[in-house]
Amino acid sequence: MYKIVKKELLAPNIYLMNIEAPRVARSARPGQFVIVRLDEHGERVPLTISDYDAEQGWVTIVTQTVGYSTSKLCAMSEGDSLADFAGPLGCPSEFVHEEPEALRRRRILFVAGGVGTAPVYPQVKWLSERGVKADVIIGAKNKDTLILTDKMRAVAGEVFIATDDGSAGFHGMVTDLMRDLIDRQGKRYDEVIAIGPMIMMKFVARTTKEYGIRTIVSLNTLMVDGTGMCGACRVTVGGRTRFTCVEGPEFDGHEVDFDEAMRRQGMYKTIESRKARMAQE
Ligand code: FES
Repeated sequence: MYKIVKKELLAPNIYLMNIEAPRVARSARPGQFVIVRLDEHGERVPLTISDYDAEQGWVTIVTQTVGYSTSKLCAMSEGDSLADFAGPLGCPSEFVHEEPEALRRRRILFVAGGVGTAPVYPQVKWLSERGVKADVIIGAKNKDTLILTDKMRAVAGEVFIATDDGSAGFHGMVTDLMRDLIDRQGKRYDEVIAIGPMIMMKFVARTTKEYGIRTIVSLNTLMVDGTGMCGACRVTVGGRTRFTCVEGPEFDGHEVDFDEAMRRQGMYKTIESRKARMAQE
């Protein structure tokens, strides 16, 4: 069993939880994820790792109440335990294998959307610990749904905020802010790493393609076994079928078939909301 040792409300319906999982904490790397099961009959919920402490033996997850299982997870309290906490799964971010020297020469911009800000944080922190200061755009609907901005500021180069309603930072989409940074403020980037809603990553990749900036996206697909056996997480990248759980979750954003990925995600959402409704009736 995996105990919830800390629970914190970050924004309406968005919770941070530290889970006691020493083995996962010891081997976790930025970019990887876990698959959580609340009880032995529960479904498997993939969640990207948002932080970890190998010495203290905990792993941070951030979750939003979007369906039946995530609502149940968010309703759990400190001291409660999860039945399964499998991981770390997936490949670590590509830059983990690179020399810090080479990374320090690269100008990296992270684009984080909504809850996607959580998995961006360990990546920016990992880079910062090696002397690499990456810039970060955090996008959200409004100022109340922004998360982890102070933590991010402590490890990033510059942090730029964009909100849909203009209640904090730049008024507009993250892609509008990206254009503003590059065209008006003269910023230059060699690489963009985008994590957030599929639709956001699609438009970030479309924008960076115009500027010729290499782009990595982290795909939050449906997952079942997390071992490459069931095919639930399949996506098309560069015309080839790839399995997000074992070959991802990060892929070249210019090669991903986002429309197909969103169709598959939509099918899953319909089942999830039906289950949530049934549970309430
Ligand atoms: Fe089953 Fe990836 S989750 S193959």
